[in-house]
Amino acid sequence: MALLFLTSNKYKILEAKKILNKFGINFISKNSKGFEIQSDSLEKVATYCALEGFKKFKKPVFVEDSGLFINSLKGFPGVYSSYVLKTVGCEGILNLLGQKRQRDAKFICIVAFATKDEVKLFKGEVKGKISTKIEKAKGFGYDPIFIPQGYSQPFSKIIQTKFEISHRAIAFKKFAKYLLKKGVS
Ligand code: IMP
Repeated sequence: MALLFLTSNKYKILEAKKILNKFGINFISKNSKGFEIQSDSLEKVATYCALEGFKKFKKPVFVEDSGLFINSLKGFPGVYSSYVLKTVGCEGILNLLGQKRQRDAKFICIVAFATKDEVKLFKGEVKGKISTKIEKAKGFGYDPIFIPQGYSQPFSKIIQTKFEISHRAIAFKKFAKYLLKKGVS
């Protein structure tokens, strides 16, 4: 059974492949433009998109929705992470935090998998903190300013580690185990 990953983000495809291929699971990707909605929860966005994808392609579809939640900003940008990145970017986040010492944050990823019977959700979460400067190298989005717990460099500088420990890696590992249990690969 060919699984479809609906996304417009080539980095998400790469990160999903790193995990799913290890479990012997293959997929094909399709552009998710036109399927996305804005909502106050990652779960609602992912569920809606997966269901719409299933309706259109009539095949098992998975999608993922992620966000960066900063403690001292009461979870902002959260579900608005994409809009905030497009408008003020990593620099805007650093400006908002200023010299604050409390810089704890987390990334959350929700994978939604839609079949004819149901939608299953898989959650991944990684804690860390926001750096005081932008360190570009690899990766995408907020990778240049997010330092995962237990490390001293942002995701952008430890991309191989990111593939293993990120919110996305955690959610996709759960998804892969579920698929194997169901006998899907
Ligand atoms: P999306 O709505 O799931 O595409 O993601 C929301 C925003 O969070 C986008 O601007 C992404 O660039 C950013 N984002 C999601 N996952 C990551 C990640 O793994 N690293 C850095 N930024 C991310």
